[in-house]
Amino acid sequence: MEIVITDGADTSGRLAADAIVALLQRKPAAVLGLATGSSPLPIYDALAARHSAGEVSFAQARGFTLDEYVGLPADHPERYRTVIDTEFVSRVDFAPDAVQGPDGLADDIAAACASYEAAIAAAGGVDLQILGIGTDGHIGFNEPGSSLASRTRIKTLTKQTRIDNARFFGDQVDAVPTHCLTQGLATIMSARHIVLVASGTGKAEAVHHMAEGAVSAMWPATVLQHHPHVTVLVDQAAASRL
Ligand code: GLP
Repeated sequence: MEIVITDGADTSGRLAADAIVALLQRKPAAVLGLATGSSPLPIYDALAARHSAGEVSFAQARGFTLDEYVGLPADHPERYRTVIDTEFVSRVDFAPDAVQGPDGLADDIAAACASYEAAIAAAGGVDLQILGIGTDGHIGFNEPGSSLASRTRIKTLTKQTRIDNARFFGDQVDAVPTHCLTQGLATIMSARHIVLVASGTGKAEAVHHMAEGAVSAMWPATVLQHHPHVTVLVDQAAASRL
């Protein structure tokens, strides 16, 4: 795990974007793993700017999102598929349908999860996975207690995550869905390169466990210690417990 302490989230975003631009220059049909949450936003801003400057194209690239709430209507603004479209996909030149996410509205959730895994495999796997981290050490929506060998499946959100995410739902914790679909920890670990960004003191404990704690399902991000190519971009505050 390579840990880079930066002077802030914007710098972390620029550095992550550099890695993605370099990948796309080397492999225009690269498969990107996309994450929601506030942490990756500076990455998407930097990539949109570099796309506008004519420095990078996503025309041949594919994207797979990490997770999705269960049951949010298709037109709900906080549906992760809508969020990723607004924040990133619509700002660059992905081909139609080049970006997919788990279907949180599927009648048969187990089948939807299996077909999502199959779609990622059929695309050749993820070349570069963008990740944030939850205050409780979750990645994607793999909450504490998630199997380190898990694949895409339905999970119950913890109270803490629902409280953390209530800011996107008018500060109403009860408005935050109770369930989600998420790529599993083993799914995430299958990516060839993982770039995790975190900033602020709220993430310091999770970053400490991820990098220095014992590998445990109770701090899901610790599984990344077993990955051969992880780049962690953190600001001073998020690195303050290292
Ligand atoms: C959500 C997402 C995660 C994200 C985490 C942290 O729970 N499912 O993918 O990493 O929140 O979000 P933020 O970056 O907004 O702190």
